[in-house]
Amino acid sequence: MVISVSYFFDTEFYSSPENLEKLQLSTEELDYYIVSGIVIFNLTSKQLVKQIPLALTKASSEHAAYALFSPTLVDLDSEGGPLEIIVGILSGQLFVINNEGSIRPGFPKVFGPIHGQ
Ligand SMILES: *[C@@H]1O[C@H](CO)[C@@H](O)[C@H](O)[C@H]1NC(C)=O
Repeated sequence: MVISVSYFFDTEFYSSPENLEKLQLSTEELDYYIVSGIVIFNLTSKQLVKQIPLALTKASSEHAAYALFSPTLVDLDSEGGPLEIIVGILSGQLFVINNEGSIRPGFPKVFGPIHGQ
């Protein structure tokens, strides 16, 4: 199973000084980090196979790096075998990831904001 994820700090949780202290970041610095990525699970073994971070932006940037929709899995090379993962993120990068989890050379390609699968 391949899913898109966005990692960010919960501003409500970290509005409490004791929770914020554990991070050793200031309130403004919480805004610096939106990371989108792909997570791959093996549903047979129920194990996390891989986490692939893709992009980092500030939360307040106009098109932050949120991964808002499902990745597409397709045999891009028509070779059979493992599928490639294609995913776009709101900040405009389109990634093609091969079955070992590495980003294919020539990617990401940068477009305007990507809003759908
Ligand atoms: C998933 O887990 C099963 C059971 O451990 C294993 O046999 C299989 O090879 C794994 N699949 C992949 C793609 O790693």
